[in-house]
Amino acid sequence: MRKLSAATILVSLCAHLTPVAATRIPAVAPHVNDPQRPLLETARTATFRNSSEALQDVLDALEAMQETYFDKFAGTWGDAIDWTAAVAGTHVSATLTGIVDGLDLSFGGVCSDLLQWENVVNQYYTQTAFFYFGENVFALRNQAFDDMLWVVLGWLESTKFADMYARRHENGQEFETSPWHGLQLSPMAAHRARVFYELASVGWDESLCNGGMTWNPSLNPYKNAITNELFAAASISMYLYFPGDNNSAPFISSTQEQYHKVHNPAHLENAVKSYKWLKESGMRNQAGLYQDGFHVTGWHRFPNGTINPGTGHCDDLDRMVYTYNQGVMLTASRGLWLATGARSYLDDGHELITNVIRATGWPNTDNIWRGLGRGGTLEEFCDHGLYCSQDGQTFKGIFFLHLTEFCRPLRASEKDMAFRLVVGGLDDQIYHYHLERCAAYSKWIYHNADAALATKNQAGLFGMWWNVPYQTAHIAEWESLAGNQSLPAGVFDHRNPALISSSLISSGDPNDRGRGRTVETQSGALAVLRAKWQWQAVYS
Ligand SMILES: *[C@@H]1O[C@H](CO)[C@@H](O)[C@H](O)[C@H]1NC(C)=O
Ligand SMILES: *[C@@H]1O[C@H](CO)[C@@H](O)[C@H](O)[C@H]1NC(C)=O
Ligand SMILES: *[C@@H]1O[C@H](CO)[C@@H](O)[C@H](O)[C@H]1NC(C)=O
Ligand SMILES: *[C@@H]1O[C@H](CO)[C@@H](O)[C@H](O)[C@H]1NC(C)=O
Repeated sequence: MRKLSAATILVSLCAHLTPVAATRIPAVAPHVNDPQRPLLETARTATFRNSSEALQDVLDALEAMQETYFDKFAGTWGDAIDWTAAVAGTHVSATLTGIVDGLDLSFGGVCSDLLQWENVVNQYYTQTAFFYFGENVFALRNQAFDDMLWVVLGWLESTKFADMYARRHENGQEFETSPWHGLQLSPMAAHRARVFYELASVGWDESLCNGGMTWNPSLNPYKNAITNELFAAASISMYLYFPGDNNSAPFISSTQEQYHKVHNPAHLENAVKSYKWLKESGMRNQAGLYQDGFHVTGWHRFPNGTINPGTGHCDDLDRMVYTYNQGVMLTASRGLWLATGARSYLDDGHELITNVIRATGWPNTDNIWRGLGRGGTLEEFCDHGLYCSQDGQTFKGIFFLHLTEFCRPLRASEKDMAFRLVVGGLDDQIYHYHLERCAAYSKWIYHNADAALATKNQAGLFGMWWNVPYQTAHIAEWESLAGNQSLPAGVFDHRNPALISSSLISSGDPNDRGRGRTVETQSGALAVLRAKWQWQAVYS
């Protein structure tokens, strides 16, 4: 086998990409923040120029997130908690995918530009590798089932990116040499995803409520939306994207062995059953939004260990509505369609998205709370009170991450995969119908991205309450709004338990109050800006 040096590969890669048309490639500025040198300069259409502005916003948000919050020595975001760090890592991997996916290199390239892109990608990819070692895995192994499943989704996102980038990097050429170096991380990422998937799978319980995942092994049974959505999303993502794992540590048994395979039917089965259970659980409200979850009336564990199962049914509903509970299900819907070809999964997703958009008031942009936002912009209920917890600050970004995945066009490798998994392959008409529905969300997405952008401060950091522009002139109006809203009787925001205190409603920009700007709020902006980049690059 002929071995090629890295330099030879790059030269041949560049040669392959020498301009076919007279158009010049996007040039990459060495410093993405240098206003004198826009990131992309192109002779292409206005649409492309516009989407390159969106890409610039994505890169700026990512750079500020990593420079401000990521601690390279520790390999993690120092102020994050374990699950929000797992989500931050997912955003970084998904953003890399979005950047590379959206770049149209096919119209010709200049080698130095490509080398600079390579450097941008490698910089952040290396940081995800640092995080592999910085992630608090020993603690996470004993946390709630949803915590474990965020870990699964994060490392699958990393292997998805590596697979895509390795293919893209080769650009159709078959190099008789070692593949893209980043693939070295994938077996480790796959191993971690597999181990945490197995740890979480024991949360499935049929002794109560005829099924469903339990949220937390050490608390009274609570079957909530997020854990079930995560189990459905993680199961179908394992089925589709898990590249296999030959590392049997930390244990191997006959039951666990089944989970090591690629396209494992056990993963598909878990996805179908948890998706179905959740859909039929009665967890949605009249607006069609997922509420938080079910307790079992009367369930009790006596000190001697005896359990009184109470009614044994999911009959005590926590009616709080959060943005992230409308998001993760979308990845499950998309994956189940890809794995089965069944249109109903896509319809479920579009219905949920439509309900969310309606619950922001859109296209109405007045100041009245509509259930999940106001002014056409997504909000957490806690946003207006400036008391969102670290959990609450993470939610909107999760929604947009999964919305973007839901509407991400299929790559050629995914179409091939579907052809192998679904008899006859995917129905093109259904796929095009799906893309058309996705395209129709663009205005709402731009509206939300622009609202998030308006919260950006001089350091490039974003706030949590997207409806309040940075240094707003209308501060008195916002302050009155902040104390002006209450939850329906009997609903308690247990994820953001702080009461509005006068110390939160002090001075300064509203988005600096409460917990202020954090890696979590930054990741939320990153996600919505990336959605804008995807919609502009793909759908306009
Ligand atoms: C593109 O950008 C121009 C100038 O910023 C703006 O007027 C136009 O509406 C944008 N087009 C789209 C499709 O966003
Ligand atoms: C696992 O080992 C088998 C047999 O050696 C090999 O074919 C396969 O590619 C390996 N899978 C992974 C993910 O390394
Ligand atoms: C455990 O305690 C409960 C409540 O005191 C009692 O009803 C039950 O019989 C006890 N079970 C055992 C096995 O002792
Ligand atoms: C606050 O609530 C009162 C009573 O519902 C309403 O009249 C007022 O307009 C609200 N203020 C704002 C800023 O929304």
